[in-house]
Amino acid sequence: MDSIHIQGGIALQGKVCIQGSKNAALPILAATLLTVEQSYIKNCPRIADVYAMVSLLRRLGCLVTWREDGLSVDSSQVGREAMGGEAVKGMRSSLCLLGALLGRCGEAVLEHPGGCVIGERPINLHLWALEQMGVTFSEEEGMIQARTAGLHGTRIVLPMPSVGATENIILAGVMAEDDTSIEGAAKEPEIAALCRYLQSCGAEIDGIGTDRLVIHGGNKLYGTEFAVPSDRIVAGTYLMACIGTGGCVLLEGAPADEMAAVLEAASWMGASCWTTEEGICIQSSGCPKAVERLTTLPYPGFPTDLQSAALTVLTAAEGRSIVEESIFENRFRVAQELNRMGACVEQLDAHTVVVQGAKQLRGAEVEARELRGGAALVIAGLMARGETRVTGCPYIYRGYENICRDFRELGARIVSV
Ligand code: EPZ
Repeated sequence: MDSIHIQGGIALQGKVCIQGSKNAALPILAATLLTVEQSYIKNCPRIADVYAMVSLLRRLGCLVTWREDGLSVDSSQVGREAMGGEAVKGMRSSLCLLGALLGRCGEAVLEHPGGCVIGERPINLHLWALEQMGVTFSEEEGMIQARTAGLHGTRIVLPMPSVGATENIILAGVMAEDDTSIEGAAKEPEIAALCRYLQSCGAEIDGIGTDRLVIHGGNKLYGTEFAVPSDRIVAGTYLMACIGTGGCVLLEGAPADEMAAVLEAASWMGASCWTTEEGICIQSSGCPKAVERLTTLPYPGFPTDLQSAALTVLTAAEGRSIVEESIFENRFRVAQELNRMGACVEQLDAHTVVVQGAKQLRGAEVEARELRGGAALVIAGLMARGETRVTGCPYIYRGYENICRDFRELGARIVSV
């Protein structure tokens, strides 16, 4: 299933159920290491990144079993295995294992993690914060060696709201002696999900959902059952697709309360969105409006993970739009592929592109080079006249359970080959 073939030009209609959130599931799975009891994580998405995390947990000695509705993790036996190889290098969330293993065993050996090729993605904040909690680091032959004689709480002021660093501090903080406070914490809903999971294991955390978290360390954590929330980025991807193709779609289970900035951007693009008990409904004429400037920002701002999808839709909007990426550099790689489909996207600098819209995209062979850019190319294929072949699809499967099935349910002509 290396490529996706799409016959474009069909307005999307119907309803699609939104999968569990990748970026919530991954740190929660790492957090199961903090209890010696059995955990049951429901609504875990069946995606490549979760499979990679499961393989890492198994290597550490956990018994992980897929059940109908989720994953059962028995972490009673955890060894001190060095964590390297593709599952670590290819997935930046493996970094959560650092905080979790330090909390569980007092040490961790981890290959420098990778993830999607978007910007440099340094890990200095993770290391700096954990050092303040009593961890020492050394690096030998590409392996990060972390050790602590005992984690201790402290006050950490993050100079930028890094999602992963906030998660690592929380994971270490729940096992530390005394309280850890994080000022300037990231406020992404996936962090709140991790905190709620840890609370249900017995941890005490204050300030959830704000940029000042206080983690009261030292509580024994128990096994628990927890449902991963729906994926706001997958919901946003399908919402953008509907704006691009036109049509009327119900995004069943979409977390509307986490998507205010996305719904606002959808209304700028001329779509009507409303929420019901079932999720988010979206109706679009298929002729989106240009947006003067769309800027990605930390939550609750417009998410960087939907920037490529929005950019794709704006190629069909009458007029000129500016898209500004404020979180990562090098996240416009999709622009080149969109231009091969007839779009007119000009990159001004590492953080800004200008889109001259109202171009009818033409089907073409294009290559996904990262997860969200890949999903955006699928949207482009749905909007385009003729046939599009998207290669590099393993990137897309890292985050989307079955993007072809989901769009077929909405009437699209799309298959993976
Ligand atoms: C998380 O990545 C998400 N990944 C990303 O989603 C998402 O794009 C990103 O947050 C921003 O929302 C997961 O949750 C698994 P950051 P993360 O640390 O934690 C800089 C997707 O498509 N920084 O908040 O790696 C960094 O370079 C993915 O699902 C440092 O300088 O992001 C960036 O400019 C891709 N030093 C900014 O902070 C550090 O030590 C935000 O990064 C850490 C980060």
